[in-house]
Amino acid sequence: MQKFILIVLLLATVTGFAQNSDMPNDFLNKEFHKDRRAKLREKLPSNSVAVFFANPVRNRANDVDFVYHQDPDFFYLTGYKEPDAVLFVFKDMQTAANKTQYNEIIFVQPRNTQAEMWTGRRLGDQGVKDQLGLEQAFNNTEFKKYNVDFSRFDQILFFDFENDVRNDPRDSSDLYDLIDQFKMKVHYPSKEKGLTVTREPEKNNLNMQALADIMDGLRGFKTKEEVDMIRKAVSISCMGQREVMKAMKPGMSEREIQGIHEFVFKKYQAEDLGYPSIVGAGHNGCILHYIDNYKPNVTNKELILMDLGAEFHGYTADITRTIPISGKFSPEQKQIYELVLKAQEEAMKVCKPGATFQDLTMATRIVVNKGLKDLGIIKTENEKHLYYPHGCCHHIGLDVHDRGPYDKLQESMVITIEPGIYIPENSNCDKRWWGIAVRIEDDYLITKDGYEHLSVSAPRKVEDIEALMKQPSALDDFVLPDLNTKN
Ligand code: GLY
Ligand code: MN
Ligand code: MN
Repeated sequence: MQKFILIVLLLATVTGFAQNSDMPNDFLNKEFHKDRRAKLREKLPSNSVAVFFANPVRNRANDVDFVYHQDPDFFYLTGYKEPDAVLFVFKDMQTAANKTQYNEIIFVQPRNTQAEMWTGRRLGDQGVKDQLGLEQAFNNTEFKKYNVDFSRFDQILFFDFENDVRNDPRDSSDLYDLIDQFKMKVHYPSKEKGLTVTREPEKNNLNMQALADIMDGLRGFKTKEEVDMIRKAVSISCMGQREVMKAMKPGMSEREIQGIHEFVFKKYQAEDLGYPSIVGAGHNGCILHYIDNYKPNVTNKELILMDLGAEFHGYTADITRTIPISGKFSPEQKQIYELVLKAQEEAMKVCKPGATFQDLTMATRIVVNKGLKDLGIIKTENEKHLYYPHGCCHHIGLDVHDRGPYDKLQESMVITIEPGIYIPENSNCDKRWWGIAVRIEDDYLITKDGYEHLSVSAPRKVEDIEALMKQPSALDDFVLPDLNTKN
């Protein structure tokens, strides 16, 4: 009998190891997430609780869902990547009926052999305790019975609900039910037929505004561990840009070029994209968030604008390079390109703690407006936003347009600087400028007295791009058979 138990234990251990080696081992660790919850607790008002729900599973069509992506706030605070969960972070210690003291509690989807066979592994309550270090972890089936008198808090902080959560009638503790049960517990006003019908809370302690600023104040400042993740996402994305510069050939499709970037992302273990990839040749580059990537043959007269970001362990890069498909900029393309580059470099000169996001935008605008005027592309003041219609900077992190304060730059923020000029066909200027679209976007860590340019390994200068485009590519000999070839 003892021998049998030993064998079972041995097998369990071996299986455990097999499962561990199926996963990368460089995720943010549980201490990081625990520390983030502690920092959140410090910022909470007295006698309050903050409540976070996991992202909904979103349906693609029929019985196929989109690949699940956790809500970034939820991930930041827990490391949990599964749906149907709710987290409570209390300002003060709570006492459970069994006298346990706790200041955070999470309800997660339970283990389920059948479901896991179809849709993948789950941590369950025990896995969350062991691997994520949340000691008060329960299966979400327990949430209905969770008996806390919410009326005794001065404030219950949460984000108001969007109507994008489906109810799975076979599951009585999915996100839909968790939200429903939460609403009952806290006397959330029910909104029926467009009218707000309040269920008369004993006191209105629901605060759906404050959490955004609190989370901005946390997530806008990256820890060392987060910066390491962003560095990785940025290095992978730069590698994609470099490989495409070498591999670029007239006649490729926009989608094929997108595929090379994304292959490089996968090769270096990036799980996802931070946002849908933008690959626009010629006038397609004028569509700021062009994600169709449909053009079947790019031509050697065009520029191609490539805005892509690998997402590595939750953190995303956001990098744009614009290059000539032929390998050499035409004189007009070069003039516009140099203008955008100069605008970016002017913004980099003012990029340091104390400068505002607006200061950086203005630095780019001054260069672009003057340059376009000198080239005769704009004639009046009124046209000044016509060809550069967006801001130049935003935080990056778990979101591509990340949370963070948007006033003054401060040490440990990570931002983009991304000026652009886009001149669509039929614009009110000489024809030779039509179809030229240039954006140059880089990622920067704000340091004590300036910045660190994180995406420097993807060339930006005209001569550096043209030089790299002359280099051979590993893909030069990669030719697939014609689909119609019989073999
Ligand atoms: N890729 C989106 C942006 O540059 O903001
Ligand atoms: Mn951006
Ligand atoms: Mn971008």
